[in-house]
Amino acid sequence: MGALEGKVAVITGGSSNIGLGIGRRFAAEGAKVILAARGRERLEEAVKLVGHGAQGVVTDVADEAQVRALFAPLPRVDLLVTCAGGWVFGAIDEVPPPQWVGLFAGRFFGQVYACHYAVPKMPAGGCIMLCSGIAAKAGITHYAGGSAVCGAVNSMGRQLAIELAPRNIRVNVLSPGLIMSEQDQADLAAMRGPDAPIRAQMIATRIPMKRAGEAEDMVKAAMFLATCDYATGMVMDVDGGWTSV
Ligand SMILES: NC(=O)c1ccc[n+]([C@@H]2O[C@H](COP(=O)([O-])OP(=O)(O)OC[C@H]3O[C@@H](n4cnc5c(N)ncnc54)[C@H](OP(=O)(O)O)[C@@H]3O)[C@@H](O)[C@H]2O)c1
Repeated sequence: MGALEGKVAVITGGSSNIGLGIGRRFAAEGAKVILAARGRERLEEAVKLVGHGAQGVVTDVADEAQVRALFAPLPRVDLLVTCAGGWVFGAIDEVPPPQWVGLFAGRFFGQVYACHYAVPKMPAGGCIMLCSGIAAKAGITHYAGGSAVCGAVNSMGRQLAIELAPRNIRVNVLSPGLIMSEQDQADLAAMRGPDAPIRAQMIATRIPMKRAGEAEDMVKAAMFLATCDYATGMVMDVDGGWTSV
C-alpha cells in the first residue's frame, strides 16, 4: 500500500517539471491526482505520464473564477501543491509594470485562490505545499519581482500554518533553488541556448553542491512534507546549499 493511498491531491502547475514530478510520485503512492495548468496539450500529456486515473483540468490560476471551478466539483482535498507560476526578469526601469502585476496574479494570487477554495474541503490531516523559491533569500540580479513574490509566499505560508494548525491542516513552502528539467539539463550539457552559460556560471559560483537540482529532488521534499504529520510552518529550501553560502 502506498503512503498516500486514498488521498485526493490537487497540483497546480502540474503539467511540467516540479509539479509533474510531484504528481507522478503522489499517484504512484496511491493518491488520486488532479493536475491544473493552462495549456491543454501539455496537460493531457502530463495526465498520461502520471497515470493511475489522474485528471487534468485546464485552469488559469490567475483567474479566481477558474480556480473556484477547479475545486467546486471536489468533495474533498487532502493535499494541495501550488506549483503554477512563471518568471519575470529585468531591470526595474525596463520591465513594464504590468508584467509585475501579471507575475503576482499567477504566482502569488494563484496560490491565495487555491488555498481559499481548497481549505473548506480539507479534512483534519490535510496538507498544503505552497511554492516560492530561494530568490526570497539569495540575491539574483534583475530578479526583484521574483524575489518579492517568493518572499510574499514564504510569509503567507508561515501565517497560514499558524491559522490552520487548530484544524490539523499543515502548511509548508517548497522553495526550489535551480531545478532544471531534463531538456534544460541536456541543453546545459551541450552548452546550447542563451541560458546555458548563465546557468553554468551560477552552478560554479553559487551552488556548493556544484550541480543543478532536478524535479526528483523536489519530489523527495514534497513526500516528506506530505507524510510528516508534525512538519508545519516550514520553508524548505531545496537548493544544493545555495542559501547557506
Ligand atoms: N525550476 C526552478 O529552478 C525554480 C526555482 C525557483 C522557483 N520556481 C518556481 O517553482 C514553480 C514550479 O517550477 P517549474 O520549474 O516546475 O516551472 P515550469 O516547468 O515552468 O512549469 C510551470 C507550470 O505552471 C503552469 N502555469 C504557469 N502559469 C500558470 C497559470 N497562470 N495558471 C495555471 N498554470 C500555470 C505551467 O503550465 P501552463 O504554462 O500550460 O499553464 C506549468 O505546468 C514555479 O512557480 C516556479 O516559478 C522554480
